[in-house]
Amino acid sequence: MSKQANFRANIIGGGEAGVAVTVEMDKDVIHQTNSLFWDTKGNEVLGATALPLYGAFVSEENHRLLGDVSGKKILEIGCGSGQSLQYLGERQAAELWGTDISENQIGKTRQLLESHGLSAELICAPMEDKCGLPEDYFDIVYSVYAIGWTTDLEGTFARIASYLKKDGVFLFSWSHPIHKCVAAEKDMLVFKKSYFDESWYSVELGGNTLSLSDRKMSTYVNALAKAGFVIEQMVEESDDDLLQAQGDSSDFAKKANVLPVTFVMKARKL
Ligand SMILES: C[S@@+](CC[C@H](N)C(=O)[O-])C[C@H]1O[C@@H](n2cnc3c(N)ncnc32)[C@H](O)[C@@H]1O
Repeated sequence: MSKQANFRANIIGGGEAGVAVTVEMDKDVIHQTNSLFWDTKGNEVLGATALPLYGAFVSEENHRLLGDVSGKKILEIGCGSGQSLQYLGERQAAELWGTDISENQIGKTRQLLESHGLSAELICAPMEDKCGLPEDYFDIVYSVYAIGWTTDLEGTFARIASYLKKDGVFLFSWSHPIHKCVAAEKDMLVFKKSYFDESWYSVELGGNTLSLSDRKMSTYVNALAKAGFVIEQMVEESDDDLLQAQGDSSDFAKKANVLPVTFVMKARKL
């Protein structure tokens, strides 16, 4: 578990996946790597996580974090293949906007929304960059399993704050940092990496490479505070009904019974 180790654990679902190698954080290289991953095999390898789900075992239908979205101007960061925007469009959001680093994902979102008679303003850009989004405009900015891809968490949260109206809501979900340290092996859960290790790593999945870093919970909390947000609610627990629906057999469900695998933060712009 040395901080200097070149090889380190990459945990997806129940167990370890691929061989992860520690890399330097070079924003341009990481953007190139990750946009290629999402332009090609991303969804095939990692699937999609979209509303009403915030993660494998956490649902908007149980937690009502967004609540009634009718008449609201809403922006999704990292809109992926568009199912979350569709979900909100079908619930009478006034305006739908989405950004994503991958041209391919933006294309999928556009197609999906059009096929459901919905439309959105879609912008292909990294979430870290200024990209022409209006400021002091949105009632809600949200992101489902995309925020963690940023190379600059503080900068990204500051931009998101700038897009929101005063009292606007920012809601995001991501892999819980404890989940990223623990793998199921035989009948045991094994701590495989340091919780404090936020170094960047690359891993090959399905013949393509992705780069990520696993941040501590305090890193998210402190970045929200610095950007001028107050946290209203945090969800760490899995929903029993979703866990039971999966049965107790998968390693991922076994993990989710004893530790948080997803976290959801609801914050408000002061
Ligand atoms: C796990 S998907 C989640 C998206 C959506 N919830 C879904 O399941 O379709 C992550 C998304 O983040 C996007 N992404 C990765 N890095 C990004 C960045 N720096 N800026 C904006 N989007 C990024 C990817 O292209 C991908 O569509």
